[in-house]
Amino acid sequence: MLTRKHSIHGRFMMAFSAFTTIMLFAALGISIAWFFHYERQEMREALLVDASIVAAQSSAAVMFNDVQAMTENLGVLHHVKAVRWAILVADGERLVHYGQVPEDLDSLHRKLRENNGVIEHLSRIVLRQDIIYDGIIRGELLLGADLTELNVQFGAVVLFGVLLVAVFMFIALPVFHHIVGTISGPLGELARLSQLISTHGDQGIRVRISYQDEVGRLGAAFNSMLDSLAQRDQSLRKSRDQLRALNARQQAIREEERTRIAHEIHDDLGQRLTALKLEIARHLGERNGTMDPEALKIGRMVDDTVKAVREISWDLRPSVLDTLGLTAAIEWLGEDFQRRMATRCRVTVPAQELRVDPEVATHLFRICQELLTNVARHARASRVEIRLEAAQRLTLEVSDNGIGIQASSHGEKSLGLLGIRERTHRLGGIVTIDSTPDFQGTRVRVTTPYILPAETNPPAGAGDSP
Ligand SMILES: Nc1ncnc2c1ncn2[C@@H]1O[C@H](COP(=O)(O)OP(=O)(O)OP(=O)(O)O)[C@@H](O)[C@H]1O
Ligand SMILES: [Mg+2]
Repeated sequence: MLTRKHSIHGRFMMAFSAFTTIMLFAALGISIAWFFHYERQEMREALLVDASIVAAQSSAAVMFNDVQAMTENLGVLHHVKAVRWAILVADGERLVHYGQVPEDLDSLHRKLRENNGVIEHLSRIVLRQDIIYDGIIRGELLLGADLTELNVQFGAVVLFGVLLVAVFMFIALPVFHHIVGTISGPLGELARLSQLISTHGDQGIRVRISYQDEVGRLGAAFNSMLDSLAQRDQSLRKSRDQLRALNARQQAIREEERTRIAHEIHDDLGQRLTALKLEIARHLGERNGTMDPEALKIGRMVDDTVKAVREISWDLRPSVLDTLGLTAAIEWLGEDFQRRMATRCRVTVPAQELRVDPEVATHLFRICQELLTNVARHARASRVEIRLEAAQRLTLEVSDNGIGIQASSHGEKSLGLLGIRERTHRLGGIVTIDSTPDFQGTRVRVTTPYILPAETNPPAGAGDSP
């Protein structure tokens, strides 16, 4: 059965086989019909003509019972190929005969009268012809012909026809197979390549164009589509790389700005405020040996302002990162989180301070900061853990026992995790986020190459780190 699952090639071959088989049977049917209708009819009519001639010639001989003349007349039938026997009868009496007269002649005779003088079987014909003399029926001529030879001839013709069709199919099938192959082959190749491209994303693949027909044009269109896709992909990648570079540059500038502002606020504003406090104490301070309450109040306000200024400067860029390094900065982040959020936060860092490239340190610090902000904003956790490990690579992991990242929570405006990925990508590292129902809470791990500060020897215990 022809189904939609069959290939184009299979369908064509089936259609061709069905078509030739139908043609073969149609040809056979037409030949058989033609044979029975024309060939045998012609034979019957020829026999009838011969019988009527012999009957006419024998009429006088029958009338006068001239046995010799009757025998001579019947002998004429000897030249008619299919005739096997003939007999002249008159008043139920057998006069003369030629050939092997059948034993059941009497019953044949009866049947002939009932069937208008002709009995026809597959391989024989029996005829009856009246012998009329002077307008009166004087006797009858019975004649039997054998059609086997004709049938054999017809069989040979049919056999030849079947053989001819078989030879035709034998030659035509491979030719047809080849022709169909020129259509289905390139189409199959096209389908195979499309699948290869969609599964492996290999856009360097191109279709080989062997024909200039519709399938060839389809292949060429496919190739040019791949070309323009590759071009678009390349320009997309280029603009993404440019965007990344721009973003990286902006972040670096922002970080520099923050550091500068933090230092200025801390050093300049902080110093000025301290000087201000001293001035207030000097001018308004002790009068008559006691502190002026107003001066005390202003002094406390200045103290608060100094504290606030320090906090602002610290938030902008914790000086601990620049002075004590990444390990201390991460520890400080954990402590600060625990203090502010009243949530237990365990920090595990290497015992010794790490010597890390300042850019890497800044990125890891900002990543940790964002991850802790996320825990505070979304996790509803009662326990947080920060781990910093330094081996061949640097690994920072922040895990919590909160509600986990919900599948529906990724909004277009959520940029924190995206920023983390971007920073990690820039460092040549990878981010893994575990937040499945099996894992209670969320665990984000960032692994980056261990980059040392410029002009520094590799750290002890870091193996052959980069
Ligand atoms: N530790 C966490 N526990 C539970 N959900 C989290 C956690 N971290 C992130 N999420 C979920 O993942 C989403 C994406 O976080 P992401 O930091 O990218 O964006 P955001 O925090 O919503 O916004 P922002 O751009 O200000 O960071 C959050 O909206 C939150 O639903
Ligand atoms: Mg966030």
